[in-house]
Amino acid sequence: MCIQMSNEILNKICSGLPLNPLPSSKKTRNTNVPHAPDRKSSLTDKERKLAIKNALRYFPSNIQPQLIDEFIYELDTYGHIYMYRFQPDIEMRAYPIDEYPCKCKAAAGIMLMIMNNLDKRVAQFPDELVIYGGNGQVFSNWAQFLLVMHYLSIMTDEQVLIMYSGHPLGLFPTRIDCSPRVVITNGLVVPNYSSMNEYDRLFALGCTMYGQMTAGSYCYIGPQGIVHGTFITITNAARKKFGKNDLCGKVFVSSGLGGMSGAQPKACQLLGCIGVIAEVSEEAAKKRYDQGWCQELIYDLNQLINRIRECREKKLATSVGYVGNVVDVWERLANEKEILVDLGSDQTSCHNPYQGGYYPVQLSYDEGRQCMKNDPKKFKELVHESIRRQIAAIDKLYERGMYFFDYGNAFLLTAKQAGAPIGGDEGSGCIRFKYPSYVQDIMGDIFSLGFGPFRWVCASGLESDLQETDKIAQHVIKDLMSNKDIPDNVLEQYNNNLKWIQEAEDAKLVVGSQARILYSDQMGRINIGLAFNQAVRTGRLKGPIILSRDHHDVSGTDSPFRETANIEDGSAFCADMSVQNVIGDSFRGATWVALHNGGGVGFGEVMNGGFGMFLDGSVKADDNIRQMLYWDVINGVSRRSWSGNKNARQTVERAMANESKLKVTMPNELAEECMKKLSL
Ligand SMILES: NC(=O)c1ccc[n+]([C@@H]2O[C@H](COP(=O)([O-])OP(=O)(O)OC[C@H]3O[C@@H](n4cnc5c(N)ncnc54)[C@H](O)[C@@H]3O)[C@@H](O)[C@H]2O)c1
Repeated sequence: MCIQMSNEILNKICSGLPLNPLPSSKKTRNTNVPHAPDRKSSLTDKERKLAIKNALRYFPSNIQPQLIDEFIYELDTYGHIYMYRFQPDIEMRAYPIDEYPCKCKAAAGIMLMIMNNLDKRVAQFPDELVIYGGNGQVFSNWAQFLLVMHYLSIMTDEQVLIMYSGHPLGLFPTRIDCSPRVVITNGLVVPNYSSMNEYDRLFALGCTMYGQMTAGSYCYIGPQGIVHGTFITITNAARKKFGKNDLCGKVFVSSGLGGMSGAQPKACQLLGCIGVIAEVSEEAAKKRYDQGWCQELIYDLNQLINRIRECREKKLATSVGYVGNVVDVWERLANEKEILVDLGSDQTSCHNPYQGGYYPVQLSYDEGRQCMKNDPKKFKELVHESIRRQIAAIDKLYERGMYFFDYGNAFLLTAKQAGAPIGGDEGSGCIRFKYPSYVQDIMGDIFSLGFGPFRWVCASGLESDLQETDKIAQHVIKDLMSNKDIPDNVLEQYNNNLKWIQEAEDAKLVVGSQARILYSDQMGRINIGLAFNQAVRTGRLKGPIILSRDHHDVSGTDSPFRETANIEDGSAFCADMSVQNVIGDSFRGATWVALHNGGGVGFGEVMNGGFGMFLDGSVKADDNIRQMLYWDVINGVSRRSWSGNKNARQTVERAMANESKLKVTMPNELAEECMKKLSL
């Protein structure tokens, strides 16, 4: 498409709500893309009227009579008013930054990130503005999208856009020197009302929205966003099970070829093992296969078992998507005489198990979607029974030597709610189930060293810029590794990350924008950021860089069943860290910040936040990098150190030795006499 055409497209969608003429009504949905499951409507008659009134207030009263019937139809049919009519008929993708109409370049960068989220190659249910995880919205309806694009296109650097759970409250005057351009909150409710039922009601009313993590903060970069973390997790699971990283001939079984879960087969491919990932939705499975994230698709269970056996015997590396229910796979594996699986996990969207996140084995995919809407009580019972069957099969394989871990999707929490015998009683400061959470066993210690899912997007949209950034990042890591004082545990991470970035281009990870994920620690993030900014300044890079990270990180998330599952001083249920993090980022130079209720393990179960940072080559951007990326890591490391983590203590001590202005309160060892008295 020529630049002039894309300019026209972008000018059009940035010109506000199209009212004269109104776009034509879309009563039938586009059959070329998958759609979100119809939401259960729990609204009373009075609330139903309120939901419609709430939706109509986006439009002048003379237009409202033309819209009311279809809004009623959408609410009654889909359980939510998405305002399909206002979805622009354009190719949604991350257009290069110079093509957006804007008064402030950083705002153009944010538009690029939003449009990338909604790219149909990237988003799970693009028409419902769901990006990943079944219900992770970027906005609640299409009017919000158009208003936000308009605001961003006219905003100056003396304004801030305020986002309340998808709703743009508006542009507000602010300080030119130290304010973010956008401040986003998603799903924040008064704590006593932070339940899933209350969420369903508030979402249907158009008052709140589940932003997951990077969806509602405009930072999603497709399955690449999690693939490095999945790679690290499976590698370390292998080390736990076999005492070495080598996964040749080993079988990893899990579920989900969706937004994030779709990273599993690619990680297996890169690790050289045999990945078997079950996916109940054929559309989702085909999407990952077509994008090259999964090497084979198998529809038949006998064929699957034969293929696993063959690959084990011949030590062939592959990633197989099984189109069907994962419970069928587990039960079949548990009944086989030989052990055909070494490592196991689950990545169904168990944070949202009764609204399409988990499909019970007793029903086909389509029957499941019907039942969830028409008989939610029965659906819930079937989900519980299905998970109990899944756990029973996993238990059998575990007794025969398989290593199983919870991969941060609330699988074990849901299994406990379903009545499966998996422990999970609260005890000594944290919750331990029969199977470990990957954070307890693996990632917690890595986070405590300050390493987390740092990422960037090349705003020029040029592949050549991404290649340059890969080279710059390699150079920075090598430079850090040349420091003689690095502890072995940090050096090991640098080595792994260097290998990752050296191989990243060949791994073909890009889906959507020209983006890269690279686990990095505080020094790594700051030095890579500074080197990128320098390259923008000198013209080595042809366009600005947008830095960001997954919220699933050292400091970004308080989640007792995931990111903070290894915080053992009893504070795992406190959310000070994530809230402090966003506040701290916002006055230290973030271009935008986001704070969410829910994400990963579900509404009410987690608080998380993230940021975006625009690097335009300026000296101010250098200062932002030094200030904000420093805080964005040291906050969580300090909290982890206070809770007693040894890696975190080591990291804080190193940081204090390098920065005299840093004074962190350190925990003291418990005296032996006191230990005895407390019988510890
Ligand atoms: N560990 C992490 O770092 C991490 C990161 C992001 C997301 N998550 C969590 O992982 C889960 C998955 O995330 P996602 O973005 O891939 O969600 P998703 O909804 O895009 O994908 C999940 C997939 O599971 C499939 N599925 C559901 N029930 C199934 C069954 N019984 N058998 C086979 N397939 C089934 C669905 O069809 C769907 O495609 C979410 O709960 C999310 O919050 C974890």
